[in-house]
Amino acid sequence: MNSNHSSPANKSAVHKDFDTENLPFHVAIIMDGNGRWAKQRILNRIKGHEKGAETVRTIVRTSREIGISILTLYAFSTENWLRPKAEIAALMVLLKRYLKSEKKEMLDNNIRLNAIGQIERLPEDVKEVLAESMAITKKNDGMLLNLALSYGGRAEIVRVVQEIVKETKEGKVDPDSITSELITEHLYTRGMRDPDLLIRTSGEMRISNFLLWQIAYSEIYVTDTLWPDFSKDEYIRILKDFQRRERRFGKVE
Ligand code: FPP
Repeated sequence: MNSNHSSPANKSAVHKDFDTENLPFHVAIIMDGNGRWAKQRILNRIKGHEKGAETVRTIVRTSREIGISILTLYAFSTENWLRPKAEIAALMVLLKRYLKSEKKEMLDNNIRLNAIGQIERLPEDVKEVLAESMAITKKNDGMLLNLALSYGGRAEIVRVVQEIVKETKEGKVDPDSITSELITEHLYTRGMRDPDLLIRTSGEMRISNFLLWQIAYSEIYVTDTLWPDFSKDEYIRILKDFQRRERRFGKVE
């Protein structure tokens, strides 16, 4: 990723008192609470995911408007395969519907779509739509939208270890030259800056196997708001909070 991405698509749409200069380059979000949102309303969990998909649209649009360069959304984890079959199927339908309906928006707004995770495990029809959306947006450089699908941080690291061990066996890599940079180059997120800000909705103080390597120095913000209720205003408040934080990366001032 080059670093010229962060010019807001539509400055007028952003709050007047918002400093668009000192933004996180990469925002990662654990979208949690769809099920609880539905339960509170005595609705089926799937209704919560449907409302959650609407929030995805709002937050993607807002990120682009503001000038975020990379947005990574945890849409489906490796552990989510253990949910009831009907819920998994509904999430796949929603994902496919989202990808189809957002094609134009991604093209109009110069958004490049990418997927990270064990994409091979997704149903064929989802893989097809995903591949198509990734192909038609591949030249876009306004914002990178990374969807974490069938993603698990530990599985990602296991994959990296397997690849590097193979390369050492083939004599391509000297074990003494294995560095954190080499590991970074083998991650799904290779070539991307690490997340500056990790947001989790619905109050749980957990990382849930998300981007384990990449979040080493990310600022973390947990909000009690359930994902379907997460709004543009709250997102902007969190970005403002980020702008007030002092990041030292383990050093002293
Ligand atoms: C967590 O809620 C959310 C998920 C497991 C999946 C996230 C999916 C969406 C936001 C909708 C579809 C995605 C896209 C990209 C269109 P939960 O079910 O774990 O909630 P709970 O913890 O309250 O039960």
